[in-house]
Amino acid sequence: MKAFVYRRYGGPDVVELAEVPKPVPRDNEVLVRIHATTVTSGDWRVRTLHVPTGLGLVARLAIGFTRPRQPIMGSEMAGTIESVGKHVTRFRVGDEVFGFPGGAMGCHAQYRTMPEDGRIARKPANLSFEEAASLPFGASTSLHYLRKAKIKAGEAVLVIGASGGVGSAMVQLAKHFGAQVTGVTSTNNLALVASLGADRVIDYTREDFTARGETYDIVVDTVGKTPVARCMRILKDKGRLLAVAAGLPEMLASVWAPLTGSRRVIAGPAEERAGDIPEIAALAEAGALKPVIDRRYRFAQMPEAHAYVETGRKRGSVVVSVEHA
Ligand SMILES: NC(=O)c1ccc[n+]([C@@H]2O[C@H](COP(=O)([O-])OP(=O)(O)OC[C@H]3O[C@@H](n4cnc5c(N)ncnc54)[C@H](OP(=O)(O)O)[C@@H]3O)[C@@H](O)[C@H]2O)c1
Repeated sequence: MKAFVYRRYGGPDVVELAEVPKPVPRDNEVLVRIHATTVTSGDWRVRTLHVPTGLGLVARLAIGFTRPRQPIMGSEMAGTIESVGKHVTRFRVGDEVFGFPGGAMGCHAQYRTMPEDGRIARKPANLSFEEAASLPFGASTSLHYLRKAKIKAGEAVLVIGASGGVGSAMVQLAKHFGAQVTGVTSTNNLALVASLGADRVIDYTREDFTARGETYDIVVDTVGKTPVARCMRILKDKGRLLAVAAGLPEMLASVWAPLTGSRRVIAGPAEERAGDIPEIAALAEAGALKPVIDRRYRFAQMPEAHAYVETGRKRGSVVVSVEHA
């Protein structure tokens, strides 16, 4: 099968088309013929090893010390089940599915196997393959953090980076849980963030959102450029800072904050839960979570998709269609 591989860390040019063995499903696995995948900020991080402050060594240990251990990137996909292992009962050949192997990656390819009880579910009927593939990265990260924060209806939530892959899902899901949502974004993306349901939008290019004298129950930082102390200043009593793009300083703050006051910092990698994928499908089918697709690329344009994601300016998701001809 065809796949895009990278054998060394670097820019978009390290991503190359290659012929690799087609995977064979084990007894408990399904083989998905992939129709759509995405390039996420996670792909950018593992390709460049550009990780948040203080996490360089941990990243090399996890991803590969001198070169990547998993040569095929891509954490999201949607496609059709082509074959199933002999113990599989949940899926049948021909089922339309979407899945999120997450950190295990391997979706920038024509095929991927997944355990039937892994992070895979039937594709929502109201979504195309491209739309379904665009959902899990941002939505599962958002669900993880909002769960950890124990979000309650009526709470005031500020989302920094509301137009990104995570931020665009976070705004929609916080609204779904009944919060009053304020999105922080740049001038070009104000209308997009409002269209996702944000009650208010703040243009960070014109205004310092930490200097308005307003406080929030939850501040979600998906960008990681605002120091923890400034985010903590705009939290109400018992407020929670969700440091999605956390480096070592935010992780340390998550330890000391509860010792010194009522505010908490929640940081660290999102849990990878199988139950998230059917939950995301149900949210999408109910119209509570809508795909936000910025650009679409063909499979052969994978390096261009990487180059665009690397700008850090994408809105929602960048989708790549996977052709089989
Ligand atoms: N903890 C976890 O498990 C986990 C999981 C997923 C992702 N992450 C991390 O979360 C971060 C966000 O991921 P993502 O996929 O959402 O990234 P992304 O889609 O690449 O984010 C791009 C967006 O960020 C916005 N942005 C850039 N600078 C900004 C600023 N100063 N203020 C407000 N918005 C700004 C841009 O909007 P403008 O053009 O309007 O500035 C753009 O729409 C990444 O660091 C990623 O590594 C962590």
